[in-house]
Amino acid sequence: MKKILAAGLVSALIFGGAIASEHEHEDIKEEVVEIGQKASKKLLKTLVSELKKAMQEGGPYKAVEVCSQKALKLTEKVAKEEGVEIKRTSFKYRNPKNAPDEYEKEALEYFEKALKEKGQLPKYYVQKVNENEYRYYMPLKVKAVCLTCHGDPKHMDKKLLEKIRALYPNDKAVGYKEGDFRGVIRVSITKEALEKHEKHEKEEKEEHHH
Ligand code: HEC
Repeated sequence: MKKILAAGLVSALIFGGAIASEHEHEDIKEEVVEIGQKASKKLLKTLVSELKKAMQEGGPYKAVEVCSQKALKLTEKVAKEEGVEIKRTSFKYRNPKNAPDEYEKEALEYFEKALKEKGQLPKYYVQKVNENEYRYYMPLKVKAVCLTCHGDPKHMDKKLLEKIRALYPNDKAVGYKEGDFRGVIRVSITKEALEKHEKHEKEEKEEHHH
């Protein structure tokens, strides 16, 4: 398959038609989706297993500490391993470091609108920021377990809420319900990372021939 796809083809092949982006992508590469998907899935898996472990070992009170001390570090670790940059962001963020920039706001709006209109979250969204940077976004949904720390403050454990408010005085990340759109994992992929990926794939193919 050709590496560079025209906008129409992209929606047909990558977005599967029904979840085509409204944004016109001129030459989004398949590799952007491959790299983005791999990195965001890996981060999600890492964070969820870390969260589960902390909840089991010390309950939510302990898990908040883990989230606040480890989330950013684990994000950096996975990013480094995958040769990309990763950020978690949301309109209603808890840590001000996770506040969205203009491009991220556009992606967040895209998912919100799609969920409202189609009742379903698209699998991903891709942007070309400039000649050197593409972005891949994976949407995150609120699950029952998330409500312990992101739910209605009236129903949250008082001590836990106090602790969250002490750590994040301007916390916006409460008041969610199950099924809500929570935010995204954003993966930035540079031209250099794409070239490395292409080279790596080519080498793998050649190995298979021998
Ligand atoms: C034990 C409490 C706890 C649970 C459970 C929890 N979170 Fe969080 N969440 C936090 C804390 C604390 C932060 C701030 C982390 C930081 O400082 O980077 C956070 C941050 C986030 C962020 C980054 C954006 C922001 O608001 O700063 C996302 C996205 C997120 N959580 C999604 C989820 C999802 C989805 C679930 C359920 C699978 C979940 N969280 C469960 C405590 C929790």
